[in-house]
Amino acid sequence: MFDSLKQKATAVADRHILELFDADPARATHFSASFEDMVLDYSKTNIDDDTRSALLELARTQDVEAHREAMFGGAHINETEDRAVLHTALRNLDGDSVMTDGGDVMPSIRATLARMEGFARDVRSGNYVGAGGQIRDVINIGIGGSDLGPAMATRALSPYHDGPRLHFVSNVDGADIADTLRQCDPRTTLVIVASKTFTTIETMTNARTAKAWLSDAVADPAAQFAALSTAADKTSDFGIAPERVFGFADWVGGRYSMWGPIGLSLMIAIGPEAFASFLRGGQAMDRHFRAAPLGENVPVMLALVGIWHNQVLGHATRAVLPYDNRLGRLPAYLQQLEMESNGKRVSMDGKDLPYDSGPVVWGEPGTNGQHAFYQLIHQGTRVVPCEFLVAAVGHEPELRHQHELLVANCFAQSEALLRGRSFDEAQAIMEKKGHTGEERDRQARHRVFPGNRPTTTLIYPKLTPEILGQIIALYEHRVFVEGVILGINSFDQWGVELGKELATALGPIVSGEASAENKDGSTQALVAYFRRFAD
Ligand code: F6P
Repeated sequence: MFDSLKQKATAVADRHILELFDADPARATHFSASFEDMVLDYSKTNIDDDTRSALLELARTQDVEAHREAMFGGAHINETEDRAVLHTALRNLDGDSVMTDGGDVMPSIRATLARMEGFARDVRSGNYVGAGGQIRDVINIGIGGSDLGPAMATRALSPYHDGPRLHFVSNVDGADIADTLRQCDPRTTLVIVASKTFTTIETMTNARTAKAWLSDAVADPAAQFAALSTAADKTSDFGIAPERVFGFADWVGGRYSMWGPIGLSLMIAIGPEAFASFLRGGQAMDRHFRAAPLGENVPVMLALVGIWHNQVLGHATRAVLPYDNRLGRLPAYLQQLEMESNGKRVSMDGKDLPYDSGPVVWGEPGTNGQHAFYQLIHQGTRVVPCEFLVAAVGHEPELRHQHELLVANCFAQSEALLRGRSFDEAQAIMEKKGHTGEERDRQARHRVFPGNRPTTTLIYPKLTPEILGQIIALYEHRVFVEGVILGINSFDQWGVELGKELATALGPIVSGEASAENKDGSTQALVAYFRRFAD
């Protein structure tokens, strides 16, 4: 499928991206896509007119538009789980009905949203209290999609956080919950158990620990619990009253779920109005994704740039580098969104993929990463396509000079990666320092930057709830488009099952109740080591 694009890539392999800027002084405009005030600049890549046309043709051949409408139309595009994929309905605030399986999902979404808003208001105002009065701390217990989204967004929107303190506990490592509980008073703490299935071992173990902690201090611990789940029977078995259970349907995938009940902790933190703005941002991006021509469509173009770098050029990883410290958890959030969605090995029809699936996604906020791993990005032997994110305006007007410094660093990195530094330039620098001859050249070689390294920049006015909604919906649709082009199911996650099964089986072996004799030699040795210290 990528053969003709690979031929184009080979034909331009020696071309420097700077040549494209020389040939087209308006390249930055011609190779950008925008939505409202947000701009995706992909001009600092080796994509030219010809390549872009071929990538767009690929999107058409793979029927991205028809698949997109199938998703929004409630078809069971998650075929291996026989489910629709309708997280977009959760943010369809003032939109039309959304049909799946013969029914409109919007009435129940609106009813649940109204209940969430009522509860969030009660928690924030003190209408709902703990045994010791007004709720001061909220602990969200969840993992994966039931943690990363609200945790990432709560940090991103900290300037809007005017509700109780929020804590996120995800790891089954008792250190996580122990460190959190130590900071809270059980009499003024609300525990939210966020789990789509309400069976996830980490979450249920932490939830039981939290219940025991509450039981030691309050007469009615269950009254200080809320649940976010599709499994109403299991939440009631846990003892949580139905008025504090916020349900959703199985057509909301875990990693796409922060727009609905899984976003309750965020809503309590920033308030229902700001949460609605977040939803409106996501909805606006949905409308753009459905209506904009492919070549002007920001999620589609971001996806095509990704396909170009990963499947065509073979760059195995993608760095996400937010120059926006509050987006510090975005790379972790995108790791789940992108790698759990598109880290697959067979196509929809169950055949082995004849090309690579999704890339390894990683990153850290700038400028911190500059003083850690950028060395490899600039001078390492592997090319790492970088995706920068940056806001024009910060939230600290009094620290405007710091924001300007941040932005200058962001722009400088993509410029350095584009331009590089030639051997001649490095030689001149060394000469100025007094080096001559062979020593000058040897030193110069260490100071050469190859440049010609591809980057994109997503620039937006300010990290508001609405813009965050746009950014997250943009990435969701990017993952969707990449998945459609790869011909895979982006909405299942069978690859997480084996480890869960083996962990369950290893439980009694690790605790010494069962023998490790059927395990491989390494596992037996690790168990023996563990038992030596545990006993
Ligand atoms: O194990 C992976 C996974 O199923 C994710 O897809 C999901 O987001 C996470 O576990 C948590 O699942 P749940 O919300 O059902 O507890």
